[in-house]
Amino acid sequence: MLQDIINISKEAGELIRSRFNTKFALKFKTNESDLVTEVDNVSEKIIVDFIKKKYPTHGIITEEGGTSLSTSEYNWVIDPLDGTVNFAHGLPIFAVSIGVQKNSETIVGIVYDVMQNVVYHAEKNNGSYENGKRIRVNDNSNLRHALLVTGFPYDVRENPENALGKFVAFTKAARGIRRLGSAAIDFCYVAKGVFDGFWEVHLKPWDMCAGKLIVKEAGGLVTDFEGNKIDIFSKRILASNGKIHEAMIKVLKENP
Ligand code: IPD
Ligand code: CA
Ligand code: CA
Repeated sequence: MLQDIINISKEAGELIRSRFNTKFALKFKTNESDLVTEVDNVSEKIIVDFIKKKYPTHGIITEEGGTSLSTSEYNWVIDPLDGTVNFAHGLPIFAVSIGVQKNSETIVGIVYDVMQNVVYHAEKNNGSYENGKRIRVNDNSNLRHALLVTGFPYDVRENPENALGKFVAFTKAARGIRRLGSAAIDFCYVAKGVFDGFWEVHLKPWDMCAGKLIVKEAGGLVTDFEGNKIDIFSKRILASNGKIHEAMIKVLKENP
């Protein structure tokens, strides 16, 4: 199954890459920042058609098409293009993200960084890999030396709380903050030790299913803002190298 997921992620990614910086239809979803392009939909179709053919009994949760749960113990959780705003503006930071859950536990996660042509993968209890090479979180324990990453939900204008105050606080507390625009890639960069920590509110299951496992299997920690265990439906996510987790929780608690 792992090789199948890698292959189909790459196939969808090749389609996305071939459409980068071309003309494509674009629609607003909830508002003018929340976009879907025809490329999101074609990528999703490639992946969903494959699952229906090869694993017809498995359930599927996708960003654009919704949920078709089944009686099978397996569910695929798919973001066919994570980083749509980047893609639409010609910024080459976006990914295909696929997680597979068995009885609600993620057992495989793949993030395909399309423009870097890099596959990140993790299997439960078997580590995390970048193009087949083992990756691990870094071991920095000092928040002042940390490079962090975050993102903002599409309703940040209506609900600035939980996003902007924390952003300001971390800007003062850490060495630097980045906002890449692809949550799936944010997780992978924590997993390989580029970023020390990543926090975000209102991520969706398809943004985090694969990435969460990739961080965990790379030796990192993924919790809510209080340090509690989370599932893919949780609204607040904190992923880190584990060593700066407590310091990040303190900042999250103290800053609304
Ligand atoms: C978005 C990206 C972004 C994050 C948003 C997500 P999309 O996914 O992951 O980094 O800040 O919350 O919705 O819409 O490009 O698939
Ligand atoms: Ca996404
Ligand atoms: Ca998406």
